[in-house]
Amino acid sequence: MSFEKSKNVEGKSGGRLKSVYFRTFGCQMNVHDTERMLGVLKKEGIVAVDSPSDADIIIINTCSVREKPEEKTYSEIGRYNFGNSKYNSHLRKKGKRPIIAVTGCVAQQRGDEILKRFPYVDLVVGTQNIGQISELVSETFLTGRPIVKTEFPNNLQIESFPRKQNIYTSFVTITQGCNNFCSYCIVPYVRGREISRPIDDILNEIETLIEGGIVEITLLGQNVNSYHDPNEGIDFPELIRQVSTIDGIYRIRFVTSHPKDLSHELISCFRDIEKLSSHIHLPIQSGSDRILESMNRGYKRAEYIEMIARLRSVRTDLSVTTDIIVGFPGESVSDFEDTLSVMEEVEVDNSFSFKYSQRPGTAAANFDDVVSLEDKSERLEKVQDLQRRLTMKSNNNNVNSTYDVLATGQSAKDPKEITGRSDQNKIVNFKGEENTIGSVVPVKIKKAHNNSLWGEAI
Ligand code: SAH
Ligand code: SF4
Ligand code: F3S
Repeated sequence: MSFEKSKNVEGKSGGRLKSVYFRTFGCQMNVHDTERMLGVLKKEGIVAVDSPSDADIIIINTCSVREKPEEKTYSEIGRYNFGNSKYNSHLRKKGKRPIIAVTGCVAQQRGDEILKRFPYVDLVVGTQNIGQISELVSETFLTGRPIVKTEFPNNLQIESFPRKQNIYTSFVTITQGCNNFCSYCIVPYVRGREISRPIDDILNEIETLIEGGIVEITLLGQNVNSYHDPNEGIDFPELIRQVSTIDGIYRIRFVTSHPKDLSHELISCFRDIEKLSSHIHLPIQSGSDRILESMNRGYKRAEYIEMIARLRSVRTDLSVTTDIIVGFPGESVSDFEDTLSVMEEVEVDNSFSFKYSQRPGTAAANFDDVVSLEDKSERLEKVQDLQRRLTMKSNNNNVNSTYDVLATGQSAKDPKEITGRSDQNKIVNFKGEENTIGSVVPVKIKKAHNNSLWGEAI
């Protein structure tokens, strides 16, 4: 393949393609996909740059989970209109025009529509075609014609491509896609059916990471606890057991798990495997059984509460974080109050909360009885107020106790202090020596803040 400019592509980046700028929206899957595209392009000698003005290729990797991130995609694409945007005026002077690529979930969902709305876009690449990014860039560059590629191949495989968060911790993808079809959610449509990665691939990748100095691994998927090895049928708890036997691994985390697939065996893992972090992100979405059913979540409020109680009985310091949607169609005041009360009952340590956002093609898009924007905003505020109170309570409970903190760097606020995360996944800043970065430090917590803890190394 060649990125040398052919004679008939006047107006495109005058010469060889050398640099790429990424703008990434959405979840860890997208961050991971961006890293993967960069890896593929690097093989062609293309390097990442921090400013779109310096780039021969601009890649906007998009998210469509709610209306807001989708709108952000469009305003980002709008910035690169070669004809009239401010950003491009100085490029026009240089006679240079970058290749504009839109990738990820909005690309998958909207396909051709993106070219119609933004005729200066060169590439629209769906979630399962990003591995072909370099061929596609080359083709549009050489032919000067736009390309839309949003096919779901039938033999999709998860490629080995770990993303390093920092030099001590790393994500490892174990599943892709989702089969759950929660009635509000677009992910199954834009990411396709769930596939699991063979266990040997996963273990090999982790071993390589550990050899490279990584000490903490986060197993990644839309619903990790439905993991099922395609060859040997090994399930998620067994995967965790095998990962925990790898020499040199200090801590194992996973995101995200679904309450309906949380098995007894997984609960036992929290009892038996010390390396499993004392944190679970378990989205509840709503505290009302009526709404949970209409969301197609597959569990009841009481079952969720029971699960957390069992988890905490085997791991007393377990921190629980969750996701909450307010204003789902049909959510009455009393349904909403059930959400507030379940948060209190479980004493959720932290949460992400969202106003329901109607997504085209999902089941809930046809549901009646929509909640007004005003009510949604009011409910969201109540959830967030309550969460602040619960988080503060949880953080205050940590004061005077000592926690193992994986030190990952200097604190952003005060470079004389060290920052890291506790076993419960809370941010801890502490007085300590710089040479402890990369190791596990016992820290006595002295102060609780809204979003972090403060302490001293002992
Ligand atoms: N696979 C993960 C979550 C993926 S999306 C899981 O099932 O837990 C992350 C969060 O976005 C969801 O948990 C949900 O709270 C929220 N979300 C998804 N679709 C939404 C929508 N249409 N409106 C509002 N919030 C939504
Ligand atoms: Fe969406 Fe539900 Fe799948 Fe999560 S489990 S990605 S919320 S459909
Ligand atoms: Fe968004 Fe796609 Fe992730 S819709 S949340 S980037 S899977």
